[in-house]
This record gives sequence, C-alpha cells and structure tokens, in this order.
Amino acid sequence: MPQALIVDDEPSSVSAMAELVEKEGFTTTTAGTLADARSRLSQERPDVILVDLMLPDGSGLALLEEMDPSRRAEVILISGHATVDSAISALRVGVLDYLTKPVDVGRLKAVLANVSRTLAFKEEVGSLREELRQLGHFGRLIGNSTPMQRVYDLITRVAPTDATVLLVGESGTGKEEVAATIHELGRRKKQPFLPLNCGAVPPNLIESELFGHEKGSFTGATQMHRGYFERATRGTLFLDEITEMPIELQVKLLRVLETGTLVRVGGDEPIAVDVRVIAASNRSPEQAVKDGKFREDLLYRLNVFPILLPPLRDRNGDIELLAEHFLAQLNREEGANKKFSAVARRRLDTYAWPGNVRELMNIVRRAFILAEESIELDGLPVASSASSVPSGPGAPDAIRVGMSLAELERHFILATLEQFGGDKRKAAEVLGISLKTMYNRLNNYAATV
Ligand SMILES: Nc1ncnc2c1ncn2[C@@H]1O[C@H](COP(=O)(O)OP(=O)(O)OP(=O)(O)O)[C@@H](O)[C@H]1O
Ligand SMILES: [Mg+2]
Repeated sequence: MPQALIVDDEPSSVSAMAELVEKEGFTTTTAGTLADARSRLSQERPDVILVDLMLPDGSGLALLEEMDPSRRAEVILISGHATVDSAISALRVGVLDYLTKPVDVGRLKAVLANVSRTLAFKEEVGSLREELRQLGHFGRLIGNSTPMQRVYDLITRVAPTDATVLLVGESGTGKEEVAATIHELGRRKKQPFLPLNCGAVPPNLIESELFGHEKGSFTGATQMHRGYFERATRGTLFLDEITEMPIELQVKLLRVLETGTLVRVGGDEPIAVDVRVIAASNRSPEQAVKDGKFREDLLYRLNVFPILLPPLRDRNGDIELLAEHFLAQLNREEGANKKFSAVARRRLDTYAWPGNVRELMNIVRRAFILAEESIELDGLPVASSASSVPSGPGAPDAIRVGMSLAELERHFILATLEQFGGDKRKAAEVLGISLKTMYNRLNNYAATV
C-alpha cells in the first residue's frame, strides 16, 4: 500500500486529511512541524508528502529541497493563502500539485489518483530498467546499446503524457514497436492502440477510413461508419507513413488535431475526439516538406516530441542480442536447439542491415530453416561492401591498436574462414594451422560468444 506523510500544524486539519487520504488507499503518518517531518523522513520513505506551506518552524518547501531528487517522494503543497505566484513557483521547484484550504475533496481525490498513477508508472519503468540491465531488453524492445538506451529514456519521459510523438527511422527499425510501447506505458493502455498505414490505404478512401462517414454520403456508403479516430477514442492512433497521406487530407488532420473535433464525411456535426496520436515516417519529414509532399504546419504540430530510431548497424552489440532472441524463439517454436557458429555470428555482426531489425528477423528464420544443428553461412546475407569483412591484414577494422593478440588471432581466423565461404580446411591451410587447431579455436570462440 502506498504511504503518505501529512505535515500540518493544525491537528483538526491533519486528522480530516488523514481520513480522506486513507480512503484513497494510502497508509498515513503525520507530523506537526518541519523538525517532526524530518525525523519521520529519516525513518520512513513515504510515496507522497502532503505538506502545509506555512509551518511553525519554516516553509514546507524546505522539505522538498532537502530530499535526494532521485529518490524523492511526490510532494503536494497545501496552503491557506494561495497566490498564483506561489503556486507557480511551487510547481516550478517540482511540486506535483498545489491545493488550497479548505481542501476540496474532489480535487484531493483527483490529485491522489494522479499520485497513484505516477507511482504505478515509476514501478513499471523501474522493472523495465531492471530487465534492461539484466536481460538486455526494455519490455518488448530488445537491445541495450547506447543509442537505444537514449530511445528508452525518451519513451519513459513521453509515455505518461498525452504529447503527440513523431517517430522517424529507416524501415524495420521498430517504429511500430516503439509506438506500442509508448501506448502500453501510458495511461491509455487499457484503451485501443490502432495502427493505420497511411501509405497503404487508397487516397480516395483514407478520409472516410480516418474520420468515418455518414450513411449515404457517397455511392456505396450504405451505413454510417466510424473511422479510426472515433474507434481509437481514449486510446492511441498510430499513423504510419504519415508523409504518404494525401496533402488535402493533411489539412483536415491538422484541423482535427487542433480542434479536438472531427466531422464525418457527409456529416455536419462536429464530434469530439480524445485520441493520442503517434505518427511515424521512414523518410525525413523535413525533406518531405521540401519536396512539397508534407505540410509544414502539420509537421510542426506532430513534431512536439520527436524520437529518432537509430539504424540497426549503429546499435553496437544489439545485433547479437536480437539474433539470439529470434533464434531462441524459433528453437522454442520448433522444439529445436540450433546454434550460431562463430562465422555466422561474425557475418551477422559485419553486415550492414539495410532492412534493419525486420531483415535480421527474416534472415535468422531463413538460416534456421536451412541449418541442421549449427547455423553456418547458408542463408545469411553476403557482406555488403560498406561494412564488409576485411579482406586482408591491412583492413582498417581488422586491426586496432589496443587489441589483444588473442582478439587479433580470432579476427583473422574468422575473416579468413569467411573469405573461403566457411570452408575450414582451406582456411586452415591458408593460415598455416592444422584442421584440428582450426576446430579447437572455433569451439573456443563459440563457447565465449
Ligand atoms: N528492438 C526490437 N526488439 C525486438 N523486435 C523488434 C525491435 N525492433 C523491431 N522489431 C521487430 O522487427 C519488425 C519490424 O519492426 P516495426 O514494424 O516496428 O518497424 P518499422 O520501423 O515500423 O518498419 P516500417 O518503416 O517498415 O514500417 C517487427 O516484427 C518488430 O516486432
Ligand atoms: Mg511500421
């Protein structure tokens, strides 16, 4: 049960408040002065502190300043004499909310509900962070490379708000997956998440798909139809490939976003919509504006909170995590126990992945089907030139100062093996080692990766 600390010097006010707060599912403790509150805080860690602004020994705000910001309780300030100024400065220093005496019960309930939501959210994010640290994934998103951690931070910040999000990233980088994660971490999670690919709907149908139509509004409209916006009410609408939306419709979309109401095709009644919009594009929206395909005003409206998804090739270490994840999934589905060989790992790691995570998933599936026990190079993509495997000792990414001899050797053996299409005998011959040594080395590599 969440815990609340109530700090107020008027006993009657404290007990009335405690009763209300307990009704909302909190356990409560109380304090009459700042000094009292400090001694409480040295023994317990409340989730929320309701504190009077004017206490006999100082300002309630002092408590806020003394607490470690990273583990701080939510603070609700209560005051007999509120001014707009003090309210604003309180909110600025990080107070969750501000109530005036006599406390309005409805307001207090709403504020406490907000506290509960914030707590639940923090807990959820906390466990996702823990998962990330231990297992390398953030909910359904696999990967713990630095650029992805940055994405998780942005998701964490924007999810509990209603802000419009614009996701930009190459095809297959996980835009839809990120959109769904934002939805699931937000307060709309129990309501629908509806994806609509604006590029896949014929232009003449997209308006009625989005906004719905009235019966008889056009030939074939035999019934009233509620569009995506209406069906996503209180939930999230994911508008994929937003730059592919016909330009005249972009004007209408902007109007809906701005007024919070829509009119069905063939109708004249404005209908209120409460929908969070997450949009995505796999091309630069700024470029689309330059090309005259995307309205600048709509871009501004959608770009409140942009998140850039890095291409897979820039996510150090994630390729391996993702490949292992997809392989484990296939092994589970098929009751198999296939593994990547060292050459296969290296090939996966050095390929440029223009189709990003989706391509990786498909390639792993293909290689899985082709392989017996050990996944070799069969079915894997041939290294693309930009990030290709070094073909000789001078290749820049083969040798780095600071590399150990063991690493160097490993690099060479795998690169040579790759050069000969996985033919261990030939590679061993060229390297001047026995076939047995080659096998030993590869076994070691497979065990350490
Ligand atoms: N970080 C990730 N962890 C696990 N699976 C992922 C991740 N990113 C993407 N995927 C998977 O890869 C596939 C492609 O992802 P998604 O559809 O979200 O990409 P997208 O950016 O929307 O692509 P497009 O621009 O082509 O629509 C999906 O099957 C998704 O589940
Ligand atoms: Mg997509």
